[in-house]
Amino acid sequence: MEILKTINLTKTYQDGQEKKTVLKEINLRVNRGEFIGIFGPSGSGKSTLLNLLGGLDRPSSGQVYIEGERIDNLRPSDLALYRRRRVGIVYQFYNLVSRLTVEQNIKLPLLMDGKEGDPKFYGKIMDMIGMKKREQSFPEELSGGEQQRVAIARALLNKPSILLLDEPTGNLDRKNRDKILELLQYSNQAFKQTMLIVSHDEELVNATKRVLHMGDGEILKDVTLA
Ligand SMILES: Nc1ncnc2c1ncn2[C@@H]1O[C@H](COP(=O)(O)OP(=O)(O)OP(=O)(O)O)[C@@H](O)[C@H]1O
Ligand SMILES: [Mg+2]
Repeated sequence: MEILKTINLTKTYQDGQEKKTVLKEINLRVNRGEFIGIFGPSGSGKSTLLNLLGGLDRPSSGQVYIEGERIDNLRPSDLALYRRRRVGIVYQFYNLVSRLTVEQNIKLPLLMDGKEGDPKFYGKIMDMIGMKKREQSFPEELSGGEQQRVAIARALLNKPSILLLDEPTGNLDRKNRDKILELLQYSNQAFKQTMLIVSHDEELVNATKRVLHMGDGEILKDVTLA
């Protein structure tokens, strides 16, 4: 089943007098449950693409469909609901709420919907990211890598159908990178979640099943691995 489709997705910025096209008519189709790596040099448009898919930004032209529904032209309030309920986003520069504890940060999207969530799954995630003892800490008391793990836990907890992760292991050492990868693979398989992961880490990208190679605002290669 197709979960994500873009049609001629384009983003341009005004750069002084000139128009700079940073995403060029991207046509991408993704099936439910796919585990996709996005690779490419700095500035090639990886974060821009994820931001458009996650409804954090709007395209200059073209369309984004999620589960058959067009999202790029939703009203701001509907777009906010889309972001909160159907997609899990881990930003390149993780952004936790500084006034809230680790536990509150992770449960925030659920709390905003008045939901309890699945306590067993919460416990499992906390185990896997090794943050059980840090539940009551505040973000400023955590290292960059620990904050990153909390941001990932937050994106996973409400079991969204799509997860968009921008350099999720950029600040992690090998051991923690492997833990996160294991958690993502578990979540992908257990809930048939679709994952798109931007990374410079070859080992992480090699663990995915399909790799998009981006360059200069385009998908240059789209390789499905056996
Ligand atoms: N608000 C903006 N105004 C103007 N140009 C922008 C803006 N946001 C991004 N760009 C440009 O768009 C291009 C693509 O940026 P993007 O952040 O998508 O790259 P990236 O592939 O994620 O790079 P990195 O690997 O460094 O994170 C870059 O040239 C960037 O300078
Ligand atoms: Mg980026």
